[in-house]
Amino acid sequence: MKNFIHLFTVCFLIYNESIKSRLCWVRKGLKSVLTPLDSLKYLLKGRIRSYLMGLICPYGFRNVNLWILFFLTAFCTNKSGGSMEEIKLPNPNLKGKTSVEECILKRRSKRSYFEKEPSLEQISQLCWAAQGLTEKKAGFRSAPSAGALYPLELYLVKNDGLFRYIPEGHKLVKLKPDDLRDELCKAALYQEFVKEAPLNFIITAVYSRTTRRYGERGVMYVHIEVGHVAENIHLQSVALGLGSVPIGAFYEDEVKKVLSLPEEETPLYIIPVGYPKD
Ligand SMILES: Cc1cc2nc3c(=O)[nH]c(=O)nc-3n(C[C@H](O)[C@H](O)[C@H](O)COP(=O)(O)O)c2cc1C
Repeated sequence: MKNFIHLFTVCFLIYNESIKSRLCWVRKGLKSVLTPLDSLKYLLKGRIRSYLMGLICPYGFRNVNLWILFFLTAFCTNKSGGSMEEIKLPNPNLKGKTSVEECILKRRSKRSYFEKEPSLEQISQLCWAAQGLTEKKAGFRSAPSAGALYPLELYLVKNDGLFRYIPEGHKLVKLKPDDLRDELCKAALYQEFVKEAPLNFIITAVYSRTTRRYGERGVMYVHIEVGHVAENIHLQSVALGLGSVPIGAFYEDEVKKVLSLPEEETPLYIIPVGYPKD
């Protein structure tokens, strides 16, 4: 929507400049009492001129009001949503104390948690394990992805709001300030531990990113990929002394509504995480 507003403003500015320019040429044509054919030629000339001007200086540079409007909308609609709060995560620890074998051995689905919240360092580590950049130049991430197309998005639901993880820059963007755990629990067939967990990850998919290249087979690839990401979260949780459980039983549309997901995003997994009671 925000991008649309900005695009609309840009189009309007170009169009505005183009109309002004064309009228000016028509006026010139009428003043010199030319034939209709010549006037038409002038009109076309004006079009070409305004097109060229559009290339060089696309936003109606002579109209100060339009410039102000342009910068205002650009400011209000920048990629991170203008006023959206961003939380830079601490760098992940790349040398853990628990071996991967130990994590595999100890991993068990945990469905009961203490209230104590995982720290920002732990959240950072979990996000990195799920979707973090492990080769920044190439844009490769911690979990494999067919064609490196990365169709998955990662959301966090905590008591202080809804967040989206942005791998580039290793940060969270706060999307909502509300505690959505209660609503998420209802959408997940009232599985109480969703409400109880201090942190819930939700992995969503934009299928078209993968099916655009791989067709119908891409759907299967996306489903395989969500398993990779989820397992990374589970194993990393164990390494951090936390517990988690994968949840597949939920009403897709309800979860979409709770998170206000864009139309093209489908929730695939909910993963509550916390300090396990058992
Ligand atoms: C695709 C999938 C969906 C699952 N959905 C749920 C769920 O909705 N609720 C739940 O309590 N456990 C869910 N689980 C967890 C399984 O019940 C659990 O993995 C299984 O009992 C084996 O136990 P373990 O994870 O401790 O090895 C799901 C697991 C998978 C792989």
